[in-house]
Amino acid sequence: MSIVVLISGSGTNLQAILDAGIPIKFVMSDNHNAYGLERAEKRNIPTLSQPRLKSLEKSVTKLCKANNVDLIVLAGFMRLLTPGFVSKWKNKIINIHPSLLPAFKGAHAIKEAWEYGVKVTGVTVHYVNEQMDEGDIIAQKIVNITKKDTLETFEEKIHKVEHKLYPTIIKKLLNDQNTN
Ligand code: GAR
Repeated sequence: MSIVVLISGSGTNLQAILDAGIPIKFVMSDNHNAYGLERAEKRNIPTLSQPRLKSLEKSVTKLCKANNVDLIVLAGFMRLLTPGFVSKWKNKIINIHPSLLPAFKGAHAIKEAWEYGVKVTGVTVHYVNEQMDEGDIIAQKIVNITKKDTLETFEEKIHKVEHKLYPTIIKKLLNDQNTN
């Protein structure tokens, strides 16, 4: 029962997964400078960074096969995986996105929701398909934007929900795989 986590940046979701005690085999990144790599190293989890997407995907496949990995978890991984990779790992790759999909896809969902002036948005965990921020939805949580919010407080609310929701869903999926 284990996962690999793919990141591109700060890795606060990775941190929440680590803090929840979920066993992580590897943390991989397309960005050598991703701070999340340091978070993993602090916990003695092997890391690998590879900016070339195809090479990264090859390494992920090799390591997942060699280590019987159950789930590939995207946590702020900002690249679109290739169709070949996605079809190889159908229903084994999940992503978290800071909006109620299908609204506000892409890399700037929080800012775009704020600028649009929505009163209700949230967080989505979904299986990954070939499209950006698409695929069957596993879970969604609502976040309300109130008059008192600033972009900063709104962003904090979103991240707080993400950091609780993602580990919960990962644990559930791993449990379900174990009992099937
Ligand atoms: C998170 O808010 C995550 O939902 C978002 O990137 C952030 C990464 O933060 N992902 C997407 O926008 C995917 N389209 P983190 O590196 O601190 O976990």
